[in-house]
Amino acid sequence: MARVLSCIQPTGPVHLGNYLGALVNWVSGQNRNDVFHGIVDLHALTVTDKPGVIGDQTLQLAAVLFAVGLDPKVATVFVQSHIPAHSQLGWIMECLAGFGEASRMTQFKDKSAKGGADTARVGLFTYPMLQAADILLYQAHYVPVGEDQRQHIELTRDLATRFNARFGETFRVPEGHILKAGAKIYDLQEPTSKMSKSSGSAAGVLELMDTPEANTKKIKSAATDAGREVKFDEKEKPGISNLLTIHSSLSGTSIANLEKEFDGKGYGDFKGAVAEVVVEYFRPIRAQALELLEDEKHLIDLLHEGADKARVVASSTLQNTYKNLGLVK
Ligand code: TYM
Repeated sequence: MARVLSCIQPTGPVHLGNYLGALVNWVSGQNRNDVFHGIVDLHALTVTDKPGVIGDQTLQLAAVLFAVGLDPKVATVFVQSHIPAHSQLGWIMECLAGFGEASRMTQFKDKSAKGGADTARVGLFTYPMLQAADILLYQAHYVPVGEDQRQHIELTRDLATRFNARFGETFRVPEGHILKAGAKIYDLQEPTSKMSKSSGSAAGVLELMDTPEANTKKIKSAATDAGREVKFDEKEKPGISNLLTIHSSLSGTSIANLEKEFDGKGYGDFKGAVAEVVVEYFRPIRAQALELLEDEKHLIDLLHEGADKARVVASSTLQNTYKNLGLVK
């Protein structure tokens, strides 16, 4: 069985980009593979630090992960801060990575440029090395992620290869597994930027836990393009193309068939249909997550059980890493 690992940050509500870019694949892979999924709360500290906020968001995220179909009996779902080995291996990765290669990470450049270099935190800079530790601790074969994580996975592979060459075979060199269909879902208001929790406008982000009314409103006021033809053309019609991707990914109807179905109908009808597909798709997920959140103790118990399983694997890799580094036992 292949070992699969992937993680998500509790930095805000889960949105459709996370769902199509990652979670769908997490759920469909859980019965074929040995899967580990982390809620990376320490990563979230790079952007949020109000007391309690990350904790609340961690529980909400856990409820959504179980509600979309991750089954705690087969998938190991854990919280990063419950397993100290992540920070411990993270430091070793920082000592392995070059300042130059870390400086080339586009996510760091984008995020630090937004707030200005002076306010960017050191943790934002070292973030990819902690991410490498998340992956390598579990000796993962595959890491299913959206397109935006490609560079971090490449860095992880480089660090694993470098460590193995210097200190002996220690880590499996993982492969990224980038989901094609939902690899990049764009913001509804700015259809050339990815849908993101840190996006400027909440109006462009479809959240799984939003009310049906709120999501319908967002879709109906999504930015569209000149013309009135429902046609997939990412260059000329990024807004309509994004909505076609969303409809197709959730309904299973091909983009070509959607183009035929809405031929001559105009944007209004098409947006109404997208809204219906999204709202009906999210409805049972939202209901299930709200139910899970009513019993917080049970939810936390599930996370502790996940951490107990993850800790065994992570500690064993860390001990072997220390040994291969030649640290005194
Ligand atoms: P995060 O929390 O931003 O996103 C979680 C997953 O959702 C995908 N994703 C998207 N896919 C398509 N379109 C979008 N608009 C979109 N937005 C997000 C992301 O690609 C990701 O797969 N650095 C990671 C978290 C992380 C991690 C790891 C991932 C930490 N350690 C180890 C994998 C393995 C991140 O910020 O994801």
